[in-house]
Amino acid sequence: MQTQLSFENLAAIETELLAVLAIDSQSAKGTEARPQPVLLTANEAIRAAAAAVLATGEFKAAANETLLLHAPAGLVAKRLLIVGLGKQAKTTVHSVRNAVGTAVRFAKPRGVRELVFMLPEASPEIGVLLPPGPCARAAVEGAFVGDFDPDTYRSDRKDLTVQSFTVAAAGDSDHAAVEAAFAEGAIIGESQNFARSLVNEPGNKLTPSILGQRAGRMAADTGLKWEVFSTDKLHELKMGAFWSVSQGSEEPPALIVLRYDPPGVTDGPVLGLVGKGITFDTGGISIKPADNMEKMKYDMAGGAAMLGAMRAVALLKPRVRVIGIVCAAENMPDGKAQKPGDVQTAMSGKTIEIINTDAEGRLVLADGLTYAKSLGATHLIDAATLTGACVVALGTVNAGAFSNDDGTFEKFQTALARSGEKFWRLPLGEEYGEQIRSEIGDIKNTGGRHGGAITAAEFLKVFAEDTPWIHLDIAGLAWIEEKKPYIAKGPSGVAVRSILEWVRSYEAR
Ligand code: BES
Ligand code: MN
Ligand code: ZN
Repeated sequence: MQTQLSFENLAAIETELLAVLAIDSQSAKGTEARPQPVLLTANEAIRAAAAAVLATGEFKAAANETLLLHAPAGLVAKRLLIVGLGKQAKTTVHSVRNAVGTAVRFAKPRGVRELVFMLPEASPEIGVLLPPGPCARAAVEGAFVGDFDPDTYRSDRKDLTVQSFTVAAAGDSDHAAVEAAFAEGAIIGESQNFARSLVNEPGNKLTPSILGQRAGRMAADTGLKWEVFSTDKLHELKMGAFWSVSQGSEEPPALIVLRYDPPGVTDGPVLGLVGKGITFDTGGISIKPADNMEKMKYDMAGGAAMLGAMRAVALLKPRVRVIGIVCAAENMPDGKAQKPGDVQTAMSGKTIEIINTDAEGRLVLADGLTYAKSLGATHLIDAATLTGACVVALGTVNAGAFSNDDGTFEKFQTALARSGEKFWRLPLGEEYGEQIRSEIGDIKNTGGRHGGAITAAEFLKVFAEDTPWIHLDIAGLAWIEEKKPYIAKGPSGVAVRSILEWVRSYEAR
């Protein structure tokens, strides 16, 4: 998708489709409440073209509601698409991201491959609602996210991707600021889609080694330092926890290490990003039921999120050092597979009693976290499709977040306000830690039926030790089960944007 930014007069813009936003400005509550759609533009030609249909009351400007006008009077554009943002009081730049995704997903099945999106601007009714810079960024992100479809393996696939997307900004807006935000949005949107394209790949097409190759190619393209190690390195580093998952598969593991070292930054924090990269999770000897097992191809979504975030870091160049680590393996049952009851020695020296071989994510991450620290990470963040229990607790609306340090988590909370993603902090605590105490070794890899997302996080905390650390459990959000107007069913790319913003919050100023 080509993207461009224009500051020209919209009435004269030649396009297949001109998308404008409308909000519902009504504030009355109860039975008196009637939607009051207001176009977010002062452009007289557009307002005139939409006046008659808005007067009918058919269109309520609900979030992601659409209304299409062909051959709008007085405009050069062939179509005018009005996209609702929802109620004024609830409207944020994140509503704009979704509305633009909606416009793109409206265009795609209709074969419209070029569109212009008009940034919200002051209207006579409500003045300035949203700042143009952040809106421009959100708009481009939303366009890339909306343009993605997971149908690459369909032989009858018609490529309906949007070829050209233009953001139209008001002529009197701060050109430099809008331009910079626009450019950022493209990098972030494409990085999120990079993660999604990896998550979409089935287990046979994306083994740990292939994931390593894809990461290496991305790193080479964006100027990151990179290395991909395998079995020998795991043994050399004494990564007994990571290896124990890998040992039951014919496919060798991949320890993917990416480094972003901005020139001249020699002190300050080193951020360690650690992702779970299980390219397929059968459960191992504690095998999963057949129903829905195919979903477990997305068990590398945490690793993909780290790769997406590293891609964005490489291109946006914040002044802070970052190390990205993905622990990739296939969890398989086999003659060589680990068994319940086995005891493994992790890289840190801690011994782990294996209760359930399906609790494998925490095993690979344990060594990933220790390794990140050994490379100099001063702050850690991990992302993983770690537990079904997290999905039970928070559903598919919020992902889980945990931290051993309030200050570090506060920075993540600020990052969420910028990314628009939803994470909910869950507790940690010694009493939960007791659930994973082992009689045979130091800890066991499951903590029983109660509080499963928390005991998994407690397990990871043992390996983070006293390094400030955040754990993201994205099991419920990495794969979207029902399509939305602004995003396809399938891989979501969740966490890429939030991790990126968290990284940027450490930038030396
Ligand atoms: N990859 C799964 C968790 C998962 C579940 C991800 C649903 C996405 C959707 C993880 O490896 C796993 O199997 N976890 C077990 C842990 C249990 C054995 C303690 C689980 O959640 O059941
Ligand atoms: Mn598992
Ligand atoms: Zn798993």
